[in-house]
Amino acid sequence: MKIITTKTLRTLSFTKYLLVPLSALSVLVVTFSACNNNEPPTYTNRIAGIVHKNCTPCHRKGEAGGYSFVTYQEISRHADLIAAVTKEGYMPPWPADTAYSRFCDEFVLTQGELEALQLWAKSGAPLGDENNMPEPPDFFVDSIHEKPDLVLKMTEPFFIKGDNADRFMIAKLPYEIASDTFIRAIEFVPGNRKLLHHMNGHLVSYTGGKKKNVFEGEHLVEMNMDTDQTVIYRILGLQNDDGTFPTLTPSVINYLPGVISTVYPEGIGGYRMSKKGAFLLKDLHYGPTPVNDSDQSVINVYFGNKPPKRPTREVILGTLGISEVVPPLQIPPNELKSFRTEITTTEKISLLTVNPHMHLLGKSFKGYAIKPNGDTIPLVRINKWDFRWQYFYTYKKPVVIPKGSRICAEATFDNTTANANNPFNPPRQVGERNTSMRTTDEMFQLIITFLPYRKGDEALSLE
Ligand code: HEC
Repeated sequence: MKIITTKTLRTLSFTKYLLVPLSALSVLVVTFSACNNNEPPTYTNRIAGIVHKNCTPCHRKGEAGGYSFVTYQEISRHADLIAAVTKEGYMPPWPADTAYSRFCDEFVLTQGELEALQLWAKSGAPLGDENNMPEPPDFFVDSIHEKPDLVLKMTEPFFIKGDNADRFMIAKLPYEIASDTFIRAIEFVPGNRKLLHHMNGHLVSYTGGKKKNVFEGEHLVEMNMDTDQTVIYRILGLQNDDGTFPTLTPSVINYLPGVISTVYPEGIGGYRMSKKGAFLLKDLHYGPTPVNDSDQSVINVYFGNKPPKRPTREVILGTLGISEVVPPLQIPPNELKSFRTEITTTEKISLLTVNPHMHLLGKSFKGYAIKPNGDTIPLVRINKWDFRWQYFYTYKKPVVIPKGSRICAEATFDNTTANANNPFNPPRQVGERNTSMRTTDEMFQLIITFLPYRKGDEALSLE
């Protein structure tokens, strides 16, 4: 696949794109509890295990979920609410259809787990055998990984005015470390999970002594869609001392609601990290708020001790990507409308991660590959699109796609009043608009992360 075409490049900027991204990877702490399915469910024999694995990652101090579900007291007090939101299918949030394809770190309850939660709540949320009290999962406060090697924080908190307006910013997090090294994983920790909706992070590397002071220039500027990006880059002071621009590795870390950063196994992905550089956080999108608020987000970097052996690559299908949306993405008012986009692979690949992306009018999404022999490989299916949960879905094992296959994405948008998320009432014509990423414009993308195939990839565990 000739991944890097002019179209993708335009949206990315700078000069060199030798590496294309990996998204970060994740390690979730999973607590197992002894369980005997024939005994009535108690906290200690069954429920703690279910909640700690499927709920606690987002329901603990400082996380997006609001309620903290860590201890018996916290969980049992809300037993009825937990039973209700799981029964409705509202929680845990996992839009991908597990009957179509399976991924790492799924937040999905089995039928048995769902029934156990209902039964437990009905029977008064019993504790069970106190001597078998499961330990609460061991999460780091700001981090889902072990302790980071380097923590970079936005220099100052970003003040968000309570004027109900969307904001798009670019932030620079410059750094200088003792010597060149390697990056194994990168993690983005939003400072304000309520308002921060989206972020696409790039790595800027200064080499050959071309930049003395990486800290000069502004660290945060408002992104104006009409301004030439290089003008903004100069305001941020990203240029070398001679005025040329340094190397930029695109999309080294992304954030969308509900995304947990992931770490690929040793030997896959990773980057070189030069002694002097910066993380460039683009498309930092803050949603509207009626009251003043602020954000001060953090990047955690985990060093590796070896050069990246197999750098991952990324391709975007659809909006701002390398393949055309057919028909052009325009959704007339009061209509349901479907679109498709596809590419053909020019080499055999091992697909690692897929990220379907749409905005508020999205209704359903399907991604699949068709092999040259006509067989279909299911990739991802979302029957009921939810704008809030846009995961980078990582396969348990790479999905091997032969050369000459078509990778296809299909999406349906709902621009009627039946769509509760429709930002306009009465509905208006909505579609792609230049390179706008405003929530009220639409996008249709399938972002894929992959490696050129190597023998044995089909057996490689990404968990
Ligand atoms: C990936 C993150 C994530 C996971 C996993 C998750 N939640 Fe949530 N939960 C949220 C967020 C974020 C909210 C805030 C409301 C929203 O944005 O929908 C929420 C809201 C809730 C609420 C409040 C609903 C209301 O009406 O106010 C309950 C109750 C809840 N979750 C229970 C659970 C339970 C039980 C589980 C596990 C079975 C779970 N959640 C798993 C992120 C998560």
